[in-house]
Amino acid sequence: MYLLGIETSCDETAVALAQVTDGSVKILSSLVSSQMRLHQPFGGVVPELATREHLRNLPALAAQILADNNLCARSLDAIAVTQGPGLAPALLVGHSYAHGLGVALGKPVYGVNHLEGHLFSPFMNLSASTVAAGSDRRIPFPFIGLVVSGGHTLLVHTRDWNDYHKLGGTVDDAAGEAFDKVARLLNLPYPGGPQIEQRAKEGDPKAFDFPQSFPERDNFNFSFSGLKTAVRYTLEKNPALLQDASSVANVCASFQRAVVEVLVRKTVAACNKTQIKALSVSGGVVCNRTLRAALEQECAKNKIALHVADPALCTDNAAMVAAIAAFKLCSGPAPTQKFEINPNLPISY
Ligand code: KG4
Ligand code: ZN
Repeated sequence: MYLLGIETSCDETAVALAQVTDGSVKILSSLVSSQMRLHQPFGGVVPELATREHLRNLPALAAQILADNNLCARSLDAIAVTQGPGLAPALLVGHSYAHGLGVALGKPVYGVNHLEGHLFSPFMNLSASTVAAGSDRRIPFPFIGLVVSGGHTLLVHTRDWNDYHKLGGTVDDAAGEAFDKVARLLNLPYPGGPQIEQRAKEGDPKAFDFPQSFPERDNFNFSFSGLKTAVRYTLEKNPALLQDASSVANVCASFQRAVVEVLVRKTVAACNKTQIKALSVSGGVVCNRTLRAALEQECAKNKIALHVADPALCTDNAAMVAAIAAFKLCSGPAPTQKFEINPNLPISY
């Protein structure tokens, strides 16, 4: 069985092709067309531009992935597409294209929760092509999932397929959004995460003592807007910092330390409180090496099995969309059919 995955929830147009054979899911190809350069001058994603790019790129990417695999559209047995959360007009492009294709081919169209894709992406392996040998045997239910991207910061208790309990999330900016906003304060280009990480390498993480949110032990919510404001006040009080590369590096390193410490502390606390010793982490911010290293260190100390998504699967992609629908087709709970887009689709059912 061949399944085409489609992802257009934000600023990446992505398609992937999954093959399901005897209960085993394999990602044959995954293509991503990033719009990073297009949005760069605006310091963030412009929904109208993202939508126009999806309209232009999606048919071309779908044709390319079929050609790359010597298949035609008629070879497809099913289509999976991101239902939400995301930007409404961007989601509509993928939804309409998937349904048009489904009607034309007489094949089912499945809706996938983008956050669910992130949650399970550490259990997919692009380089080995094999997602999981034999249904979902490699997925260590129950596990705690941390999703940290430009749009989301989320801690989820994942008991089983479709049995997700949100432990906490951000009450304002997402972690990636905080990186992007602080980068803008420092006159660094979008997206800010890699820029800050690069400069932080040369800086002193203890140079500034920026605040961390919700220090209470049992509070699994995050807030990053106070941290961003603290950086802004620091720069407003001392504008000379911006003129000096080593001061900028110190701000980057201190800001990064604050984000990493709070993410790691709350994630490990969530594992310890629930006594669940398996953790999945994914989303664009997990590309950050300091965060990865800190998670590795604390998980080892607390005997937590850490599953980190491959960097190519941390950022938005359609392999995770195709894989979720394929996993569900193989292992029991029917994937969603007959759905509308939902820009605010929650992770908890
Ligand atoms: O998952 P993603 O591609 O898109 C969303 O679904 O939001 O995440 C993009 C976010 C951006 O905010 C970007 O600044 C951040 O991930 N990011 C990083 C790094 N690489 C990307 N943040 C910190 N360090 C990085 N190395
Ligand atoms: Zn995402």
